Amino acid sequence: MKPRANIILALDVDTLTKARYFVNRLYSKVKIFKVGPHLFTAFGPRIVDIIHKKRAGVFLDLKFHDIPNTVSNAVRQAVKLKVKMLTLHISGGEEMLKSAVKAASEEARKLKVKRPLLVGVTVLTSQKSSPQAILKLAKLGLNCGLDGVVCSVREAVFLRKNIKNKFLIITPGIRADNTVCDDQKRTATASEAIQAGSDFLVVGRPILRAKNPLKAAKKLFK
Ligand code: C5P
Repeated sequence: MKPRANIILALDVDTLTKARYFVNRLYSKVKIFKVGPHLFTAFGPRIVDIIHKKRAGVFLDLKFHDIPNTVSNAVRQAVKLKVKMLTLHISGGEEMLKSAVKAASEEARKLKVKRPLLVGVTVLTSQKSSPQAILKLAKLGLNCGLDGVVCSVREAVFLRKNIKNKFLIITPGIRADNTVCDDQKRTATASEAIQAGSDFLVVGRPILRAKNPLKAAKKLFK
């Protein structure tokens, strides 16, 4: 099946050498690489440059959550780095979210670059929650101007059913089949995620741990 969704590789590695290795091996198949707090704290914008040199996009997954002024300033810096998308915690509240959206739009206009997609995190999978609580947060985020939310495949079905407006869904926990889960509680295959209404599929370990990462990526998204 040809995926209509975009593949995002979670670049969950701890050295620039490894990051470079995966970007170089996979940029022909993967057009977006997710950079989290681990890699970004260690190497900062250098990792962004490595990805951009291969003409791939950066998903800056730092899950901003702070007072509105601090988050807006962080978002402005992310726009300067020309990242394709970034995450914020919706639980940071309306004022924080609206000022982040405003800051992203203003900075992008000023620099004449594309505004990054702003993606909201509802409830962390490590925390207890309910579908209704996730729906409430997703609606709040989207009403404040976010472009989409991160959620599991199961939540994607629920959100698509209950939110009629257009928005993006980013789903982690993608596996070739549902028997290999690592520590993920709710995994899904790429086609299940796409059917559930996901636009971006995040994969890490199934590709990072593979003997042949490119082959593994092709197998996951064939
Ligand atoms: O290795 P794996 O494919 O499980 O990687 C999933 C990636 O998605 C990791 O970078 C993880 O931090 C991220 N993620 C997740 N669950 C969420 C949000 C993000 O697994 N709810």
